[in-house]
Amino acid sequence: MKTVLVTGGAGFIGSNFLLYLAKKYPSYRLLNLDKLTYAGNLENLKEIEERKNYRFIRGDIADSAVVGKVFAEEEIDWVVNFAAESHVDRSILMPALFVRTNIMGTANLLNAALNRWEGAWEDKRFLQISTDEVYGSLGETGYFTETTPLDPHTPYAASKAGADLLVKAYHDTYGLPVIISRCTNNYGPYQFPEKLIPLVINNALHRKKLPVYGDGLQIRDWLYVEDHCKALDLILHRGKTGEVYNIGGHNERTNLSVVRTVISYLREHVDPGISEALIAFVPDRKGHDFRYGIDPAKICNELGWRPETPFAEGIVRTIRWYLENRDWLERVTAGEYQEYYRRVYEGR
Ligand code: NAD
Ligand code: TYD
Repeated sequence: MKTVLVTGGAGFIGSNFLLYLAKKYPSYRLLNLDKLTYAGNLENLKEIEERKNYRFIRGDIADSAVVGKVFAEEEIDWVVNFAAESHVDRSILMPALFVRTNIMGTANLLNAALNRWEGAWEDKRFLQISTDEVYGSLGETGYFTETTPLDPHTPYAASKAGADLLVKAYHDTYGLPVIISRCTNNYGPYQFPEKLIPLVINNALHRKKLPVYGDGLQIRDWLYVEDHCKALDLILHRGKTGEVYNIGGHNERTNLSVVRTVISYLREHVDPGISEALIAFVPDRKGHDFRYGIDPAKICNELGWRPETPFAEGIVRTIRWYLENRDWLERVTAGEYQEYYRRVYEGR
């Protein structure tokens, strides 16, 4: 029996992870601390909201009093910190918010764990959910490994790198039992439609233009979210504290090819009017990283992890999920999303 504090559990990966944990470890007490920003949605967690050993706490990790109170009220064994501002385009518009949530928020969680656990942390764990974007950008060849120097280019990546360094410092200075995981781009159910794949699905369903930044030849390494959850499960239970684990499935694709894959499925199964004519090449993102690619040898060799979902299958499951949950899509794209969309895409 463990008590696991998941922060950001109402977001894309956090809610997939909570649903996964609840199913696999029904005896665990699951706490979900989430501010419910535009990206947080309790609808994602309907399946578990009535469970006795699940508790949702609405709160801001950047507020130390909130975090301290949660640690005082609960006997927390493990922390899994997903809570973050997670979108690069938003970080270009409002970098200070990213510093506040991603760096100050992580600092508050580390402090609370340090103070509450008081050195009695043999079975405790603080898992920081980071990203391959902290390593910067690759050229045509090579991969990021756990020892690649951090070289972030965007405010998002820099704020995640800052958080990672704090996490490492709490381990090196105080011996706090931390682990950092760095995953490639995820896709799957519940992803907010500001990110490439759900944005393209949503726009195509409305026959709106599909914005491709620059020439669309940038490369991302896509992992189905359930495979990420399985990797985090292994890291939490069997990973070594003080270590970094990179997670990726060697599934690199250009943005253009991802967009074409989505179009071709929707054209065949939903609307013959959805075609490549909807693609609109728009001015590039500022500081746009060319390529991300992870070498996952460490997690494969040490923890026996393997990516299980081929892209061809994962993308179909993902598109179908959005087709079956069009109400969800309509609700999350009402309100604030419209204003965001105007700011990022209008006149581009
Ligand atoms: P998301 O934007 O979908 O969800 C973020 C969640 O955090 C939301 O529920 C939001 O309400 C919550 N949140 C934001 N600010 C908060 C605050 N101040 N206090 C409490 N809660 C707050 O993000 P995601 O895509 O699920 O990513 C989750 C984590 O995984 C992030 O740390 C991100 O950096 C990391 N990550 C994401 C990807 C990806 O492809 N999406 C890849 C690698 C790593
Ligand atoms: P995104 O999903 O925002 O993830 P990240 O920037 O964290 O990798 O973007 C994935 C890639 O798709 C990235 O190279 C930017 C590109 N992109 C577009 O071309 N058009 C879009 O409208 C969006 C949102 C992203």
